[in-house]
Amino acid sequence: MKNKYLSHIDYESIITGDGSSSLRDPVTGETFHSTFGAVTESNLVFIQNGLNYFVQNQSTAKINLLEIGFGTGLNALLTLVEACRRSIQIEYTSIDAFPLSPENAAKLNFTQLAEFETFKNDFITFHNEAGIEQTFGNGLFKLKRIHIDLLELEPAKSYFDLIYFDAFSPNVQPELWSRQVFVKLYEALKPGGILVTYSSKGVVKNALRESGFTIERLAGPPGKRHVLRAVKLAD
Ligand SMILES: C[S@@+](CC[C@H](N)C(=O)[O-])C[C@H]1O[C@@H](n2cnc3c(N)ncnc32)[C@H](O)[C@@H]1O
Repeated sequence: MKNKYLSHIDYESIITGDGSSSLRDPVTGETFHSTFGAVTESNLVFIQNGLNYFVQNQSTAKINLLEIGFGTGLNALLTLVEACRRSIQIEYTSIDAFPLSPENAAKLNFTQLAEFETFKNDFITFHNEAGIEQTFGNGLFKLKRIHIDLLELEPAKSYFDLIYFDAFSPNVQPELWSRQVFVKLYEALKPGGILVTYSSKGVVKNALRESGFTIERLAGPPGKRHVLRAVKLAD
């Protein structure tokens, strides 16, 4: 059984290049986001390349989204903002093996930024204990947080439209970027479904291709040349 939180980790708070905050693991040096800009990176990799691309190319009454690595909740916050702006229904399931402690979550400055300040209470509620479904944005955004290891996850088959794959990097967690994991996620997607991620390493591309995905390499955010969109082509 996992600790409720990785409470022994007192993450360091950092301010990234665009003024938004992130966290750094003092032991591995791994950061939750790009140090060039946390909001900038998440907006490009997950919102623009994932959510907005999906909405522009496919029509569905409700988007079922799976996030690997809830972390700070930044991707969830940006997705809530977008659900409200576009008036779209999103069911957002997010897993994390090591949910942030309230002390670590309190180090984040996202809702002190003008664009997100009206979501302050929502963001605080995001970090309530996992396991309870919560609804935000006048019912548009349903959040289901699950405290589970990705390696133990058995997602419903052909259920999700979109996956945000936001694990720590393949350098520190190679076991999460494996063919075995990506096959599971491929099966969890509906035909036409999309997985987006920030890593475009060769081993990641190979594992995605071997799992059945068709890969698109896209321009990355500052500090990163490329990022990926992987599509489960419709039959
Ligand atoms: C890069 S951070 C996620 C950033 C996050 N999406 C955000 O918006 O802040 C990676 C996350 O993966 C979680 N994690 C690490 N190992 C995991 C595992 N085996 N299964 C699920 N989550 C894991 C970490 O606790 C961390 O919160």
